[in-house]
Amino acid sequence: MPKKIVAGNWKMNLNASDANALISALEKKQNTLDVEVMAFPPSLFISGLSKEKIRIGVQNFYSKDKGAYTGEISILQAKSVGASIGLIGHSERRSLFGETNELLKDKVDAALSQGFSFIFCCGEPLEVREAGKENEFVKKQLEESLFHLSEEEMKGCVIAYEPVWAIGTGRTATSEQAENMHKEIRSWIAEEYKKEVAETVSILYGGSCKPSNARELFACPNVDGGLIGGASLNVEDFSSIINSFE
Ligand code: PGA
Repeated sequence: MPKKIVAGNWKMNLNASDANALISALEKKQNTLDVEVMAFPPSLFISGLSKEKIRIGVQNFYSKDKGAYTGEISILQAKSVGASIGLIGHSERRSLFGETNELLKDKVDAALSQGFSFIFCCGEPLEVREAGKENEFVKKQLEESLFHLSEEEMKGCVIAYEPVWAIGTGRTATSEQAENMHKEIRSWIAEEYKKEVAETVSILYGGSCKPSNARELFACPNVDGGLIGGASLNVEDFSSIINSFE
């Protein structure tokens, strides 16, 4: 069974004291459900945040260990402040910062070689969905950045399907659209590896997930949780999304 996960991607929001207050408030809300809760704050704030109940990760990292890469952070640096996981390939990194499938593959390899967990993000832009080519688009993202992994490496990986047209737009994928893509993703993993491997991979949905739609999305058989942007900045909304697994 894939692990249930709800992760908050704070993006470039909040200041240091807001970040502390949000994590403390979330820790007080923590529940007894079998759901792993993660937060991806701006990396600048990570060292000061409690990591007692919530797994803290970085929104981005570079594949090299150190050196002349102005503005980047390495996995070793992320680990040194208590981050144990990173996002790879968020659509904003792809579209605004030019991250290619090839570059993301290097990040995947770097994470594996450093024993650093990751959530690999994929998802199609609106024009691709409108052309009915979303399956081949997402499959290519996985093939070019992830499917070179060995069976052992693929086991337990976490993938987030985030249709670009649903991110920050208020336009959520219907639970049927989400389930269809998640089912496809799982079947590609099963084809590429084995059914047993596919059954260990958590596939999260992201894109305008909020308290009002989380329950329906998480009830889909192949949706193992969510990567939450805007709604993760509000303690009540984020807790309510976590509790949608009840
Ligand atoms: P959103 O963002 O929930 O604000 O749409 C999701 C994400 O970008 O991970």
